[in-house]
Amino acid sequence: MDISMKGKKIVILTGAGISAESGVKTFRDNDGLWENHRIEDVATPEAWIKDPMLVWRFYQARRNQLLEVEPNPAHLALADLESKAESLTLITQNVDDLHERGGSESVIHMHGQLRTLRCENTHQTEVRMDKKDLGENFVYCNCCSEPSRMRPDIVWFGEIPMEMDKIYQSVEDCDVFIVIGSSGHVYPAAGLVNLANSNGAHSILVNYELPINGSDFDEVHIGKAGEILNNG
Ligand code: APR
Repeated sequence: MDISMKGKKIVILTGAGISAESGVKTFRDNDGLWENHRIEDVATPEAWIKDPMLVWRFYQARRNQLLEVEPNPAHLALADLESKAESLTLITQNVDDLHERGGSESVIHMHGQLRTLRCENTHQTEVRMDKKDLGENFVYCNCCSEPSRMRPDIVWFGEIPMEMDKIYQSVEDCDVFIVIGSSGHVYPAAGLVNLANSNGAHSILVNYELPINGSDFDEVHIGKAGEILNNG
């Protein structure tokens, strides 16, 4: 795929598929369950109220997994592209930190991040990845005089994704819109290709299989992201 695209404003949206080659499981490639849980049992505000310890353990496992996985050639290719491109905005639905560890300097995490936790009282976030923050017990904030419990800094189903103004602005304004490794099931991310198309951008998809919104793209590359992004 030729993504040198000199002088073009490029916006890239990544999904779980880009981290698959690093060993992070995707959401919808396995039997409808996410790491043996129904999504509504672990990824909704209602689940956090009903059984916070179940949700906490689930995300602590995901947070601990960050220490075991490494960026793959697809993450590295996007960092390389960022360093060469005149204008590139990288938006990810992923909550891992593999883009940053792969060298990308500016990443919009529209669904939140695993490495940060959010104070339930003030909503301030803190990077909390020390050993003592990664155990079974809840973690308490540093921002309140009487420390408050922190929740995963994740956008759960039913919550509004982060930085949407910035995202809409960059997609409306781009020349090339590229989606990598996303099944196109979750909105508003899945609808960004339509916004890009209606503003005249050239839209490109890189995915292991044709996703539900595959026909919305001008150009489609089927295969593994790590291979396609590194084959020119
Ligand atoms: N290279 C490219 N694509 C891949 C690869 C790979 N190596 N492996 C898998 N894929 C594709 C799958 O074929 C699938 O279409 O990546 C897609 C992953 O889709 P999902 O698991 O649905 O992930 P995503 O689209 O990012 O999910 C969106 O759903 O649960 C929520 O908040 C969560 O951000 C997530 C959102």
